[in-house]
Amino acid sequence: MEALRSDAFLKRLAEQREEMWAKMTAEKKSYGAEKPLTQEVVVRRLQFGVVMERKAAEVTARWIPHIPDLDIQRSLSEYVANELKHAAILRERIAELKGDADALWKNPLRELKELWDYHASLGSFCELVASVQYGHEEFFPRTSRSFIQRVESIDPMTASIYRDTLLVDEEAHEWLAPEALRRYALDAETQRRCLEALQKGCELFARAIQSFNRTTIH
Ligand SMILES: [Fe+2]
Ligand SMILES: [Fe+2]
Repeated sequence: MEALRSDAFLKRLAEQREEMWAKMTAEKKSYGAEKPLTQEVVVRRLQFGVVMERKAAEVTARWIPHIPDLDIQRSLSEYVANELKHAAILRERIAELKGDADALWKNPLRELKELWDYHASLGSFCELVASVQYGHEEFFPRTSRSFIQRVESIDPMTASIYRDTLLVDEEAHEWLAPEALRRYALDAETQRRCLEALQKGCELFARAIQSFNRTTIH
């Protein structure tokens, strides 16, 4: 494959991601979206969130010293701080609901661990961004919106955390991944690896959701 121009490359990545989303939706791999929520399920969902937020920060942080441009480096640092802030907010909410904030952090589902081990193993910043921030993190607003709708009536405080903090911060950093890929994923080999990483990352994410659904008593 010859190197693609940035727009075409980003389009390819997005198409691949959306294919995966369509597949996940068809197979109902979306946090048990069709099932009614209980307080217990809400806590479990927040525990899953703690791992997702904290791990996103951890796997990203190690690349910060390697970013050539200060504007991206600075924004990526803010991204890391934001994801850690989200993990902290979710932990607090779990404590208020009398749950164990670190239940999944200390004892992650196998598939959830595989997802983040994979991200931690990636050999370049571009692959990581393609797989996490331009990959399955793009699903976050969609799954959150459906969660907010369902949680509103039984737990308005949790709904507000997702709507007023997590989603707002998410929107503020959406520009970062495409911009980083536009600047740094320029050669054919890097682009090929990015496409591969996004595919694999989305697959592992889908499996982690499936495992969440299987192990959550709905
Ligand atoms: Fe977050
Ligand atoms: Fe995020």
